[in-house]
Amino acid sequence: MISYKDLGLVNSKKMFAKAIKGGYAVPAYNFNNLEQLQAIIQACVATKSPVILQVSKGARDYANINLLRNMARGAGEYARELGCDIPIVLHLDHGDSFETCKDCIDNGFSSVMIDGSHLPYEENVALTKKVVDYAHKFDVTVEGELGVLAGIEDEVSHEKSNYTKPEEVVDFVSRTGVDSLAISIGTSHGANKFDPAHCTVNEEGILIPPPLRFDILEEIERRLPGFPIVLHGSSSVPQEYVKKINKYGGKLKDSVGIPEEQLRRAAKSSVCKINIDSDGRLAMTAMVREVLHNKPAEFDPRKYLGPAREELKKMYMHKNTNVLGSANQA
Ligand code: G3H
Ligand code: 13P
Ligand code: ZN
Repeated sequence: MISYKDLGLVNSKKMFAKAIKGGYAVPAYNFNNLEQLQAIIQACVATKSPVILQVSKGARDYANINLLRNMARGAGEYARELGCDIPIVLHLDHGDSFETCKDCIDNGFSSVMIDGSHLPYEENVALTKKVVDYAHKFDVTVEGELGVLAGIEDEVSHEKSNYTKPEEVVDFVSRTGVDSLAISIGTSHGANKFDPAHCTVNEEGILIPPPLRFDILEEIERRLPGFPIVLHGSSSVPQEYVKKINKYGGKLKDSVGIPEEQLRRAAKSSVCKINIDSDGRLAMTAMVREVLHNKPAEFDPRKYLGPAREELKKMYMHKNTNVLGSANQA
């Protein structure tokens, strides 16, 4: 058994309480490799932001849990070396079973998500409670989910989203004992969120998708005052990256993400964790494609992953400062 406390990590309890009071959301950025982790830590130190490092099942399969845990431990040391001891959570994203959650808890994770959102309600309650009962013995925090997001989550693909039913949230939270709740109010996973044909154009010529269901969020807040709420699928799909990828040989569909103003509005509410993965993938891919197109003779990975890391850092700094509001909250 490896405790996150010995790795210099924290659970999400105090982080969320502070975020709700302060009207901001903590960034939850996914990482799978060294350059993504460096960019996250550099950006969060530069903006003095707390951070949640997210590891999906796919990341575990790709990078190995022992390596990921030690990278997270190293991330804390790296942050201190850079001059700011920011709080860092190591979180399992979309845990699919009790066994996966237990394995992460036993391997130094300070927080886990058990995603039973696709299960019948009573099965979701039973599975989530089982994970909470185990996690809380070790002071590990647990995120549950009610409502289903469209898009791809680790090999499981959902065509349509089902919004969270506010009338279920009190029962779910009190019977499971979860520390935070992910909800479905119109966000979705991946880079293909909204078809431009379903968007309207604003005065500046920017495509605006159908708004998030803030009415559902408000009803959930009314029923669970001060309880930490989580938003998945919150990438904004920056158009400059999509254009760059396609300019240099990519073939991405035209798509629109979650507008930054809507995320800012959510961050001011009891939404205290916002998950972003796809935007990081787009930023890195855009830079790698550009460098390799402009320098076809280049074959040193540092020469294309370095600029990708720099762009990623810039993007995370922007999100912390201008979107989530987590800058200067560490
Ligand atoms: O919500 C899913 C995350 O973006 C993780 O994606 O399963 O491909 O690592 P992944
Ligand atoms: P995006 O695909 O919108 O980045 O969402 C990521 C996410 O929800 C990870 O759990
Ligand atoms: Zn997610």
